[in-house]
Amino acid sequence: MEFEKNILCIGAGYVGGPTLAMIAYKCPQYKVTVVDINPERIARWNSDNLPIYEPGLDEIVKAVRGRNLFFSTDIERGIREADIIFVSVNTPTKTFGAGAGMAADLQYWEKTARQIRQYAESPKIIVEKSTLPVKTAHAMERMLQATNNHVHFEVLSNPEFLAEGTAIRDLEYPDRVLIGSRETPSGLKARQELVEIYANWVPRERIITSNLWSSELSKLVANAFLAQRISSINSITSLCEKTDADITEVARAVGTDSRIGDKFLNASVGFGGSCFKKDILNLVYICRYYGLEEVADYWEGVVKINDYQKERFVLNMLTAMFNTLAGKRICIFGFAFKANTGDTRESPAMFVCKLLLEERAELVISDPKALENAKEDLKGAQGKISYVEDPYEAVAGCDAIAVLTEWDIYRQLDFKKIYGSMDKPCFIFDGRNILDHRGLFEIGFNVFPIGKPPLTHLK
Ligand SMILES: NC(=O)c1ccc[n+]([C@@H]2O[C@H](COP(=O)([O-])OP(=O)(O)OC[C@H]3O[C@@H](n4cnc5c(N)ncnc54)[C@H](O)[C@@H]3O)[C@@H](O)[C@H]2O)c1
Repeated sequence: MEFEKNILCIGAGYVGGPTLAMIAYKCPQYKVTVVDINPERIARWNSDNLPIYEPGLDEIVKAVRGRNLFFSTDIERGIREADIIFVSVNTPTKTFGAGAGMAADLQYWEKTARQIRQYAESPKIIVEKSTLPVKTAHAMERMLQATNNHVHFEVLSNPEFLAEGTAIRDLEYPDRVLIGSRETPSGLKARQELVEIYANWVPRERIITSNLWSSELSKLVANAFLAQRISSINSITSLCEKTDADITEVARAVGTDSRIGDKFLNASVGFGGSCFKKDILNLVYICRYYGLEEVADYWEGVVKINDYQKERFVLNMLTAMFNTLAGKRICIFGFAFKANTGDTRESPAMFVCKLLLEERAELVISDPKALENAKEDLKGAQGKISYVEDPYEAVAGCDAIAVLTEWDIYRQLDFKKIYGSMDKPCFIFDGRNILDHRGLFEIGFNVFPIGKPPLTHLK
């Protein structure tokens, strides 16, 4: 079959895989290829055991793989054949050199630009799908034009706003798609070409266009705003605990104001995930680069409150359990950074577990989808750790439960049965405020929610 267009995506991760699977699903007239330098990842994309868990993803991949969606390690061929290249490689925080711990590490990004430059023989539209510092497209353009003068590249910014756990729904019914371009004739033409791809399933009024820099910056700012809401509500939880106010009641009272809205006001042990922290730090770094110290300090506060919240959670556990955790068995309910994903990058659970191990606690970690990643994350950690998928088996003989991911299954457990199998006195620290605290207290648990008075039988 002749395809209308060849679309390539470089980077088969949490963004590249699902996003391009959706494009292939909605647009059978295009041939979509996703390439990666990691052969194991590609092998899993070509198997029944996909490398990431995302509700609804298996069905979509099964429907289109081999039809117009292909996963491959042949990057060179992919680049040669493509009309449009999405670049969705990882852009983590730099861990070395200037800007370490703050700036984006653009080595994977730059390597991709070099590969495109080396293999491209015909004009291409390059789409920045990765989240990047504002003005990166300019660097990309310079890199692409450096030697390959006879081939024209047009760089667009098309940041991804999907949330892990709801990626398929977000991709199918996005709040908006953002496309930034140069406002030159060729820039506007390329922008229109990308608009037409999304218009296959996204209503046109939801496809927003802008200049390149607004688009790049908007993604950083959107994540900073989302994280800021979480840190804002979390910053009030410690005050609630001191004053007998209840954070759920406060959030409800505040969130019913239509100017504020009720989303992202759930208090918790803190936000995680590969994006929020790195994107805010990136924003902070850029502000400092331009000498905007006050702006940088403001946004850095969002990350500081998040770290404080995770540390506070462990300190509360320590204080409640008679100031010693050494030798105590603590069951961790949930290691993923949020529900409905197996992703554990920057998970608050990882942070909490490391602190608990420093206190010499013994950990039993349970999670329906993230145990494989959890084992990898805690590979070098000192201390006693076991991994048990079944929550009833996991809690047996434990002194405490810490709920760190808001998986639905934890709301539905038989806590009477669980209470019966644990050591006494037993404790529950609900880092997501998802359980029935009064009911647990009545069973016999000492219950420590976030931002609410504890319910305890201990005098
Ligand atoms: N994960 C999310 O929820 C999310 C949401 C929106 C935006 N983003 C952004 O999207 C980008 C990708 O994130 P992700 O979570 O998919 O990362 P990821 O680590 O899951 O995937 C990136 C993939 O790129 C591959 N790669 C790196 N260099 C390569 C190269 N030179 N050639 C081919 N492949 C290469 C890696 O092997 C990896 O498989 C990041 O910039 C991130 O900030 C992520």
